[in-house]
Order: sequence, then structure tokens, then C-alpha cells
Amino acid sequence: MSHFQALISRRAVLSGAGAAVTCLAAPRLLRAGVNTGAEIAADGFRVLRLKTGTAALRGAAEKPTAIWGYDGVVPGPTLRVKRGEEVKVRLVNELKQGTVIHWHGLRLPNAMDGVPHLTQMPIDPGKSFDYRFAAPDAGTFWYHSHLYSSEQLARGVYGILIVEELEPVEVDREVVLVIDDWRLSEDGTIHPSFGNFHDAAHSGRLGQYITLNSEDTLEIPVKTNERLRLRLINCANARVFTLRFDKHMPRVMAIDGQPAESYLARDGKVVLGPGNRIDLFLDTTLSPGTRAAIMVDDLRGGELELGRFAYASGEPVRAEPRPDPKPLPANPLPARMDFAGALKLDVPLDGGAMSMMMMQGMRGGREIPGHGIEPRNRIWTLANFSSSGHDGPPLFAVNRGRTVMLTFINRTAFAHAMHVHGHHFRLLDRLDDGWKPYWLDTTIVGVEKTERIAFVADNPGKWMIHCHMLEHQETGMAAWFEVA
Ligand code: C2O
Ligand code: CU
Repeated sequence: MSHFQALISRRAVLSGAGAAVTCLAAPRLLRAGVNTGAEIAADGFRVLRLKTGTAALRGAAEKPTAIWGYDGVVPGPTLRVKRGEEVKVRLVNELKQGTVIHWHGLRLPNAMDGVPHLTQMPIDPGKSFDYRFAAPDAGTFWYHSHLYSSEQLARGVYGILIVEELEPVEVDREVVLVIDDWRLSEDGTIHPSFGNFHDAAHSGRLGQYITLNSEDTLEIPVKTNERLRLRLINCANARVFTLRFDKHMPRVMAIDGQPAESYLARDGKVVLGPGNRIDLFLDTTLSPGTRAAIMVDDLRGGELELGRFAYASGEPVRAEPRPDPKPLPANPLPARMDFAGALKLDVPLDGGAMSMMMMQGMRGGREIPGHGIEPRNRIWTLANFSSSGHDGPPLFAVNRGRTVMLTFINRTAFAHAMHVHGHHFRLLDRLDDGWKPYWLDTTIVGVEKTERIAFVADNPGKWMIHCHMLEHQETGMAAWFEVA
């Protein structure tokens, strides 16, 4: 048994014995919701210092893990603005590596998108950069490094951005739930195997230790008949999580930051690919004094307990749960798309272990066209190129306002999480041009599956499109497009 397996079974054993342990455990801080010691510069910018820190990933009894994070914490600070307000962040890079901040899912001006060499130069060690833009949409977003991503995100370089609705939302309170997996060595340090060839050619870097809000087992104190807004965010390098809320009926209200036609999550389960967010309304309908687990699939047919709701023993906050919610107020997304005049493009995804491309490539049989990617790192292609996502010709160029329909054809033995910068898209139905009742910025394309998306290219600039499994992105599954 490798030490990774040893750790995962230790975690499984611990959560199985959870009931005995938890009566002793003090209630844990919901760290992702807390901003401590925010530094505000004289000109009103929120100063974020990217630096080293620690996180008690394995619980208070174990040695904390050294991480990299914004203000030295992971998840990084939760930034909050109201829709239409400006985000003003001064990133100070106190690491020994360059970095940039990408604001994932924000339909912002191109110059603020944080893609190295495409929209800005890397922020060198000791240097700073000012990000300033108005937040166009209310919803759950996140920010993360877009340079040396497979290492920086695995070490914790990400934070949360919440854009609040202008209208009141009828919930009692909200809880941010950041899910991540960590590949830890036996001593609890982050395993330094970043971006290695095996991970890159398979499912990306999967960690064996899964946390909510960087806690070993998160405990969320609740009272009976509250309505919580849970903001779920998958910040993992590559893992797709299926979360299950035991004994509850969470209602999906928004996906990838955008309000959706709401529906009850089947069997209390939701699936999040890397980069995805889901806003749930969850009514705490159990009796006072009970507990209910938050479970995650372990990719081996089992489940692990990541956290739990702990019901207070006192009176319910109201006699009955709240009535069915109204939908969240709409964001100013494009009202219609012009399919007849759309630019239509097939985007085959190829490569990876077990593919013809890799086997031929390894025998030197075929040259894979690559832009900015070393031949030995050309593991994946997007539309027949291996690209860093900023070199080479654009995947397509369109005039502002044109509808774009992309067909992702996954010819590989692995799933991919395809992310489009600066725009939200619709997922089209399989047989006709109807679409799913939600917007996305990142969609999972299953093994050998085809998915069609459509969006209005209404945001001028140079935008990346890539797999959000970061080891795939860095080994070729990336491109850029231009809106003029
Ligand atoms: Cu969340 Cu291009 O990334
Ligand atoms: Cu991928």
C-alpha cells in the first residue's frame, strides 16, 4: 500500500469513528466566511499579500501544513462587494515566484482578467499589481493564480469573491463551503510532485485528503428551520466532487455564479468540476440536537464524511420551514442568441494516456503542432494544437456581439472541465438547439462525450479557453480567442 492509500484509509477510518470523537471537539470556525485584519491602502485598495502560511488541514492535533495563500491563509480572504460596485485589489507578491490573479467567472474588462502574457505580464516577486473593475453579476465567484497554476493552486493560492444582490435574498444566513483535495506526504506537508508527467497524462493531480474550508471535519452549527444559502466552490486542481447532504433536500439556486431555474438536488447530491460553483438553499428541517453529515464520493464507490450540520438543542427559529423560495434576481446576461448567424466550430479534445496521439508521439511518429509548449510537454491537444493558451494563432476571432457555438468532442480516456474566460455560456441539448436552464463558465465533458455550448461573444479582448484540470491546461489543452 502506498502512503497515499494509507492516508486515505486513515481518513476513512477517522470519519467512521466520528461519532465518538465529535462530542469532544469544540465548534470549528467557518474560516472561509471570516475576514480578519484586512489591510486597506490609503487609496482604498484592499491589499492582498500573497505569502506563505499554515493550515490545520489534518485537525488541531496534527502539525499544521505549510501553504501559500493570499494573506497567508487558505481559502484566501472572502472579498465582498455589491453588484455593480468596484473590486479594488492590490496584489503584493511576497513569494519567490511570479504570479497573477485571475477572477474566475467574472465578465470583466479584458485587461483585468489576469492571464500572463495574454492580458498582463507576470507580477514578479516583490512587485505588486492593481486590479480594479466593476462586478457585473451578483453571485459566487473565486479568484486564483493563473501562473504556475498546478503548483500555486495545489499550495492554496485562491480565495473567494462574493458579489451580493442589490435586492434582499430570503435566507437566514449564508455559509461558504470551499472544497479541495490535498496531496500530502506522510509528514503532512504538501507533496511536491507538481505537474508531473503521470498526473498530466491521466486525471491531473488528485489529492488523497479532502477538506471543506481547509478543515479536517467542518462542523456547521445550525438551528431547526433556518434557511441557509450554501455557496459551494470547487478549488481543486483536477478532482470532480460529488457532495451529498445527508437527510436534507438542498435546492440548486445558481450555478457558476448565475441564477438558474431552481430544482431540488436529486438524492441530496450535487456534482462540481474544478472551478464550478453551486449556490444551494438548504432548509434545516431536522429536530433540535441532531447531526447530519456532508459526504463526498471517494472515487472508489464509497463516501467520506467531510463535515456535518450540528443542530442546537434549543427552540426552532420558526415553527415551519420557509415556503419555497423565489428565484434569485437575474443578472444582465445576453437576452438572446443568433444561432443562424453563429460561428460554429468543432473543438476536438485529444491526447493523454491511452491515446493514439501519445503513443505515436512517444514513438516520434507524428509532430503535434504546439505553441509555446515544449515538445516533451505536449500531452493534450485542443482543436489539434497543443498550446500554452497565449502563443500562436487564436482558435477563432469574431466581431463583438456574434454568437459562438462550440462543439467539444472528447476523444480521450479522461473527463475534462472546459472553461471559457470573460463569458458565460449555455449548454445546448443533444438533439436540438434548446438549452439547459442555467448558465455556466466551466463544463465537464465526459469520457468520449460531446457537449455543445453557445455564448454571445460580447466582451472585447483576448480570452483563454482551457481545461480547468490544471495539469491538462499546462500540457496543451488550452487556446485563446479574440473578440474585436
Ligand atoms: Cu479558473 Cu483560466 O481559470
Ligand atoms: Cu482536461
